[in-house]
Amino acid sequence: MGLQIAKQVDLTKLELKSSDFNKIRSVLYDYCGIDMHEGKEALVKARVLKRLRMLKMTTFKEYFDYMESDASGAEFLALVDVLTTNKTSFFRESAHFDFIRSEVIPKIHGQNVTWWSAGCSSGEEPVSWAITYLEEKKKGFNGSARILATDISSIVLQKAKRAMYSKENMEGMPDIIRRDYFMRSPMDPDMYQVKENVRSMIRYGRLNLKEAWPMKGPFHIIMCRNVMIYFDRPTQSKLVDRFCDLLAPGGYLFLGHSESISGSSHGLKNIKPAVYQKK
Ligand SMILES: C[S@@+](CC[C@H](N)C(=O)[O-])C[C@H]1O[C@@H](n2cnc3c(N)ncnc32)[C@H](O)[C@@H]1O
Repeated sequence: MGLQIAKQVDLTKLELKSSDFNKIRSVLYDYCGIDMHEGKEALVKARVLKRLRMLKMTTFKEYFDYMESDASGAEFLALVDVLTTNKTSFFRESAHFDFIRSEVIPKIHGQNVTWWSAGCSSGEEPVSWAITYLEEKKKGFNGSARILATDISSIVLQKAKRAMYSKENMEGMPDIIRRDYFMRSPMDPDMYQVKENVRSMIRYGRLNLKEAWPMKGPFHIIMCRNVMIYFDRPTQSKLVDRFCDLLAPGGYLFLGHSESISGSSHGLKNIKPAVYQKK
């Protein structure tokens, strides 16, 4: 009996035709505002190849035929998932958390506040907020904070809901914060789970920022950091207007430090790098 060896196809050698790149670019932009402009061909190809590998397909044509014939739309959403960039970390852009400690929390004593992490990825951002709030609360004040955390990617939301993070994810976290707000997983000592008092403050949901939003607000804080960087100017500007509509008077909008907007044209005042306040 002959031993059959499956022929391995080197998928990296496949060519992504410019017509296919343009098609992906256009559907992605229409669906969620992400602008994969020229120069992003290699990135798009590498990410679409992830789907081919998962589905054990060997040509882009086979994949696109499959995606287009999938009337459920599930494969399109899986493609959107791989095309999003989900890089995040705990207490990322720490100046924002310093600002929340020194300027925001002292003003919300006694209030029940609602915050929104728009584009929360795998949850490190809303968890960092909740911990910041609980740490300040130890100093003694009443009130509560509820955090809505949304993302378009179901894969990262699953991770966020599990709230289980690796040793690498925890790098740089002060020991005292790790001890107070995380517990080691009984299954795997290298994994840490966020404790229930933090998790219970956060509600996760899938939301495409480009579509209609079910929430009415008002929010005291909206954080949409390192999300709009993937959108073009007109999409960014529309989004900031919509955020502004949902902010309470005096509420804050936080963007990523590399995302600047002209605050005044949206009824916002720029008060710190990448921090805007509703007038
Ligand atoms: C780079 S991560 C930023 C995570 C976090 N805010 C931070 O700064 O660390 C960008 C996130 O935005 C999400 N995203 C991109 N387009 C989106 C859209 N149209 N609606 C909702 N989320 C979107 C991606 O899925 C991704 O998880």
